[in-house]
Amino acid sequence: MSVADQNRQWVLADRPVGREVRESDFELVSRPIPALREGELLTRTLYLSVAPVMRRYMLQGGAGEKPLQLGETMRGRGVGVVVASRNPRFAPGDFVQGKLGWQEHSVSDGSPYYMMYRIAQRIAPLSTGIGVLGVTGFTSYLGLMDIAQLRPGDRVLVSGAAGGVGSSVAQIAKHHGAGRVVGIAGGPEKCRLLVERLGYDAAIDHRREDLHARLGELLPEGLDVFFDNVGGATLDTALLHLRTDARIALCGRISEYLGDDEQPYALRHYQQLHKKYAMMRSFFIYRMEADFPRAEQAMSEMIRSGALTHTEDVLEGLERMPEALIRLYTGANRGKQIVRVDPLAETYRDHNPWRGT
Ligand SMILES: NC(=O)c1ccc[n+]([C@@H]2O[C@H](COP(=O)([O-])OP(=O)(O)OC[C@H]3O[C@@H](n4cnc5c(N)ncnc54)[C@H](OP(=O)(O)O)[C@@H]3O)[C@@H](O)[C@H]2O)c1
Repeated sequence: MSVADQNRQWVLADRPVGREVRESDFELVSRPIPALREGELLTRTLYLSVAPVMRRYMLQGGAGEKPLQLGETMRGRGVGVVVASRNPRFAPGDFVQGKLGWQEHSVSDGSPYYMMYRIAQRIAPLSTGIGVLGVTGFTSYLGLMDIAQLRPGDRVLVSGAAGGVGSSVAQIAKHHGAGRVVGIAGGPEKCRLLVERLGYDAAIDHRREDLHARLGELLPEGLDVFFDNVGGATLDTALLHLRTDARIALCGRISEYLGDDEQPYALRHYQQLHKKYAMMRSFFIYRMEADFPRAEQAMSEMIRSGALTHTEDVLEGLERMPEALIRLYTGANRGKQIVRVDPLAETYRDHNPWRGT
């Protein structure tokens, strides 16, 4: 298959200062693909991931990324296939996941910054390379097992439970012997999804229900583990329900992302940590790269045994990247939000034109 010479990319056109992300913050442009230099590889994008942290890339940077300049290609992870390579570690036809950016093709030098991993598994679709078998899934697994130190019998609470990270947490917890697992999500449909498909024992609709009262009903003896994706008032309320020796994994705080960093949310109930001898620990998944192979192996075994299913929310076409990102902040996504950039993505495993098979 011949390689295109033009590359469509989404670039930053405006910054969402003090406001929500809008489609007009991005511009779709076409630029020539540069010739590869020694050590570089060219990847064709199959799928792209969106993540709440991207709003921070558009503003002040974050998660180890510098602030984007206006006109610069949006950053983000994706799954691709290598179409040309001058890097001995990657051959044409290899499937990879890494920092591909919001574009149809990407050139990288294979250096650690790109966190480019070859996808060898055949147990799940390639798309899972940015879902359960990628950084999102590793966040669920390592956040629960290493940071929150899940123990058999633990009563577990998860916020953002129907999202990319949250949609795996109950299944991992149950597989490792957790007791009751309760999820918090927005809206009755998502709450049904939690209980019917995602392994949760019960769900709380944070848009309609009183969190404090519902936690009292659903976890009357309190919680041992809180996997928190939301922060702010959700975290504050959960603190009132800790059991002795509880552990809180601070994964994210999406409810605060639109807030003012000068006047951050102030927790009122932090004394509960003292009273319950509890631990609260944040983590950043890219600092745990050495643990990725262990997480991938554990997640793969769960998929193989049927203990873990993946839930993806797929939009079609590069054009829909801004919409995909905005869906995270409005809560429109069910499971991991991804965009299929190449409609033939899943067929290349059986018919790989770049490998000649
Ligand atoms: N620590 C790390 O290394 C790491 C790595 C990856 C992700 N994260 C964090 O993990 C969290 C989940 O990320 P994800 O990629 O899986 O996103 P996601 O959960 O798929 O999408 C975001 C979800 O957050 C909920 N939400 C949005 N605004 C909210 C608000 N104001 N209050 C309460 N809930 C709100 C919505 O669900 P509902 O409709 O159910 O409310 C939405 O679907 C984020 O906070 C992210 O920053 C951390």
